This record gives sequence, structure tokens and C-alpha cells, in this order.
Amino acid sequence: MEDLIQEARRLREEAEKELHEVLSLPSLQEWRNRHLSKKAPLSALMARLREAPPEERGSLGAGLNEARKALEGLFGEKERALREEALTKKLESERVDVTLPGRRDGIGAINPFRLIEDEIVQIFAGMGYRVEEGHDVETERYNFELLNMPEGHPARDMQDTFYLEGEGLLRTQTSASQAHVLEENEEKGPLAIISPGKCYRRDDDDMTHSHQFGQVEGLLVGEGVSMADLKGTLALFARKMFGEKREIRLRSSYFPFTEPSVEVDVSCARCEGKGCSMCKGTGWIEILGAGEVHPDVLRKGGYDPERYQGFAFGVGIERVAMLRYGIDDIRRFYQDDARFLAGFREED
Ligand code: DAH
Repeated sequence: MEDLIQEARRLREEAEKELHEVLSLPSLQEWRNRHLSKKAPLSALMARLREAPPEERGSLGAGLNEARKALEGLFGEKERALREEALTKKLESERVDVTLPGRRDGIGAINPFRLIEDEIVQIFAGMGYRVEEGHDVETERYNFELLNMPEGHPARDMQDTFYLEGEGLLRTQTSASQAHVLEENEEKGPLAIISPGKCYRRDDDDMTHSHQFGQVEGLLVGEGVSMADLKGTLALFARKMFGEKREIRLRSSYFPFTEPSVEVDVSCARCEGKGCSMCKGTGWIEILGAGEVHPDVLRKGGYDPERYQGFAFGVGIERVAMLRYGIDDIRRFYQDDARFLAGFREED
């Protein structure tokens, strides 16, 4: 039965040699099937123990077992080494480079409409004006009648209106706030307010018209308030908004709620008043409408026009924003185009 032990030794050496060539966990499994499974030659040798004389079985069995144990031990070691190697490779390939710059979340930007609205409010708040929130939904009384535009007045036609079912309309001008403020002021004394917000008109949308747009309304009432006060105030505004070198000029105009009425131009910041494409060669750009508050408007608000005078103005927010930022199309303010808005992101 000596040959049984020799055979076992040979099988063991053969298996050890093969094991050197095993380089992956799947092929290690194959190796195990070949050398350590029930069908392996070494197991067949075990079965042959029964043929050995009983007194030799003990030492033969121990010899075969030793070969088997040795191979199992080698299997364990190899398995551990291969697993470790696989893990190292995985960690290497999935390594995070902590020195790479992080990916930023998309930070939003404030719409230029809001930026300019805030800036206008800041400028007038700095001159002592109080902010009065108006109402997007108005009645004809405040939007038209108290502003000297009675039913059938032709000036109403200039503001194509969204009427709501039943009573009410979407305000066509922030001037409606003037009527509220005058009426609600119980002292019927001096006041200075601005009222920013949206207005709505049934305009066909194009590059300079939109069915919704923003205005900042201004109203100052006091004793002896003149056009000179209006001009000084608006010149200060124009310089704060468009630069120290800006001049303004007043052109005679018409609004039902002011007398006299003016349109106010600012000298073109791009060409310094020489004439360019932005100011259509004139050197001046219209920015707002204004005037002395009409005595009838004061009277309708419960004021005594013999004692109090006032001036009022209405600035178009998009118009100012378009001039300040060189925006060519009013529709950009409402299109939610992230590429347009990104240009107004504050750097952090
Ligand atoms: N409400 C006028 C408009 O929408 C703008 C305006 C002009 C407002 C003169 C005023 C003003 O307060 O005095 O066209």
C-alpha cells in the first residue's frame, strides 16, 4: 500500500504546481473542484483505504489526510491573497480625488427686473419716500376716475384694459396708488410715497411692448411744491441710476392727472449725448412721465388744492433696466431663460 502514499504525494505536488498558475478567484474555484472535491483523485484514494489491511489503515489515512489538509491550507491562503488583491484594485480604480474642484449647484440669479425695481426704491427711500404697496386688481374708480379719467374719457383708450368678470380690472398703471394714498391720508397733509409694481395692458407683445410691465409710481404733496422740485428730484434720480454726468430735460406732454405734464428724457450714457443708435441719434432717451398733480386729483382725494400742490411721476422698470444693462427685448424679462438670467448672477 506504499504506492497509495506516493500517489497522494504526487497529486499534492501536482496541485501545488497548478496553484502557482492560479491568478483569479474563479480559477481558484476550478482548482478546488479539481483537487479537493469528492470527485477529485485524492478523494478516490481515500475510498481505496478500505482495500488496505486494517493495521495499515491508520497511518495511511493520516498520510492522505495530511495531503488534503495541506492543500486546503494552501487554498485558504491563496483565496485570502486574491481577495485582498481584488479589493486593492477596486479601491485604486474607485479612488476619489479630493483635490478636484467640487461640482457647483446651479445658483439662481435675481431677475434684472427685480434688481432695478429694488434700486429705484432704494434711491427714493434714500430721499425719504415711503413705499406704498398697491393692488394688482383695481376698480375703475382708482385706476381711472379719481385720476381724472371719467367713463368715456378718450385717454382710457390709450390703455387697453383687462376687465375682470363682475367688477374690477387689472390695473393699467401704478398711478392708481396715488388715488388710494390721497384718499386714505386722514390728515390731508404732506406726503411722499413711491409705489412699485406690475401693470397690465392688452398689448401685442413685441420687443418693446408686453402685456405686463413694471412701474414705480412717485407722489409728493406739500405746500408750495413746484416743477423745480420735480426737476431737481428727477435729475438726482437719473444721476444715481445712470451716472453722475447725466442731464435730464423735460418735454411738454399730456396726462389727465397732471397739469402741466411732461415727459422726461435723460442724456444718453452711451454716446454722452452726441447721438448714437441707442438714442436714435438724438442724444436723449425718454425714461418717464411726470407732472404737477392736477388740482382736480387733489380735490377728489379730499385735499385742498389752494393750500397743497404736488408732483407725480411714473417710471417704467423694464425701460430703465433695458437702458442700464443694454437688454434689447422686453420679453426676455419673462421668458425664464437660464442663460439670460445667469448674466445677472452675483459673484460670491
Ligand atoms: N401712468 C402713466 C402711464 O402709465 C405714467 C405717469 C405719467 C405717471 C405721469 C405719473 C405721471 O405719475 O405724473 O403712462
